[in-house]
Amino acid sequence: MPVTPQDMLELAKLVKQLCGLALDDSKGYLIESRLSQVAAEAGCDNYVELCRRALSGDRQLRTKVVDAITTHETLFFRDGSPFNVLKHRVIPDIIDAKANSPLSKRIRFWCAACSTGQECYSIAIVLSELLPNIASWNINILGTDIADSSIAQACRGTYSNYEIGRGMPPNYLHKYMQRDGANWKVRDSLRALVQFERRNLLEPFHDLGPFDVIFCRNVAIYFDPTTRRNLFHRLAERLTPTGYLFVGASESLTDLGPRFAPKMYCRGIFYQPNMAGQQVAT
Ligand SMILES: C[S@@+](CC[C@H](N)C(=O)[O-])C[C@H]1O[C@@H](n2cnc3c(N)ncnc32)[C@H](O)[C@@H]1O
Repeated sequence: MPVTPQDMLELAKLVKQLCGLALDDSKGYLIESRLSQVAAEAGCDNYVELCRRALSGDRQLRTKVVDAITTHETLFFRDGSPFNVLKHRVIPDIIDAKANSPLSKRIRFWCAACSTGQECYSIAIVLSELLPNIASWNINILGTDIADSSIAQACRGTYSNYEIGRGMPPNYLHKYMQRDGANWKVRDSLRALVQFERRNLLEPFHDLGPFDVIFCRNVAIYFDPTTRRNLFHRLAERLTPTGYLFVGASESLTDLGPRFAPKMYCRGIFYQPNMAGQQVAT
């Protein structure tokens, strides 16, 4: 179904409202490839009707629009360096800080916009490799995403050969995954470290945290500057005072002011938000 300029206006409003994605006129191809089937299956004659129905309470249709329009690209150990930083710097520092206190052997991670879960399971593998006595720690890795279909797969923890081939190191495969028919399934010991929830990052999340580490990678690149800025300031508030924030390889927070001074380790960049440089989230 071809996209008219009027469709584009209405769809941009809808998508911004539902999930924060900024669509401009150049994204007509994206609409056609991702939403034409949703519109056809819902029996909508045009995109304006799709928008009207999605906004007038058709929750199922809204879910389908969000699932279709969001980009779910992800892989195990994506970009490598954040996981090296976790392994060589962040987790050892957290362990040192907490090891001597029997009351604080709790480590909390949040993968905000985790897609189908590979990021969360990669963190769980790093932790399992580093902590031989992992059962004596209270580890919680929370994965959240707006897309129901992604969260459903993340919860199942089941991946195709193709997905496994994208980033899962061969020496970890049998240790952390088991055969599930033609697919691979995350072993229970790893699965037990991770929880998943559907969450829209546009909505308040002050009920979450505080977290020792937050990964929020490759989602804010789709937001407009105000939504992005607001998101990272709100995320910084969910970190412990010495917490660590990781963003995507192509992202930088240096334009967000002194609160977000980058730190580099093992060729990876992370942020430890400086509360002295705090700015009010708008
Ligand atoms: C490109 S994936 C990134 C996955 C993972 N963080 C990574 O870097 O591999 C972007 C994810 O952001 C999710 N997303 C988009 N808008 C969102 C929102 N408003 N709230 C929560 N998740 C959102 C999408 O559903 C998608 O799964």
